[in-house]
Amino acid sequence: MTADMTIYEEMQSGDIATFRQRLTDALPDVGAEVLNDSHMGLLSIFFSFQRTMDTLRQGTPTSEDWEKIGYDLEALSQLIENHFKQEEEMMESCGHGYVTAHKAEHNVFTRKVKGYCAAIESHDVKKIFGLKYDLFEMFMHHITVTDMKYKDDIKRA
Ligand SMILES: [Fe+2]
Repeated sequence: MTADMTIYEEMQSGDIATFRQRLTDALPDVGAEVLNDSHMGLLSIFFSFQRTMDTLRQGTPTSEDWEKIGYDLEALSQLIENHFKQEEEMMESCGHGYVTAHKAEHNVFTRKVKGYCAAIESHDVKKIFGLKYDLFEMFMHHITVTDMKYKDDIKRA
């Protein structure tokens, strides 16, 4: 992946299994195993989204396709809600100094997921593709940059 490539371009440019492995390997240790595990769980849901997107791209989505993507989104929403709550509690209890800014980023992410829900309800394929890559890039950036800021505080706790 070159520095000026988006995740979307990278995804289009090569072997998908290699790309997924690279993303899995790119998930950093944020200092707490429970948070590392939920980051991995979230990434798995994104991969499942990706498979659904490939199906959507191949033709007119069936009601089963919409059901599957709705199911993935529900799983993502639930996991994100639980994960953010746990992460915020852990940051607060270890005295991390950037909880407010971090929570604000979580809120932006949650709003984007809600936008995604609305696009699925209205069967808006174009918007769903856009949101998917947007969310995915934000997800990777959040973990590799923002979450890493609490690593030392959480490890010390
Ligand atoms: Fe976070």
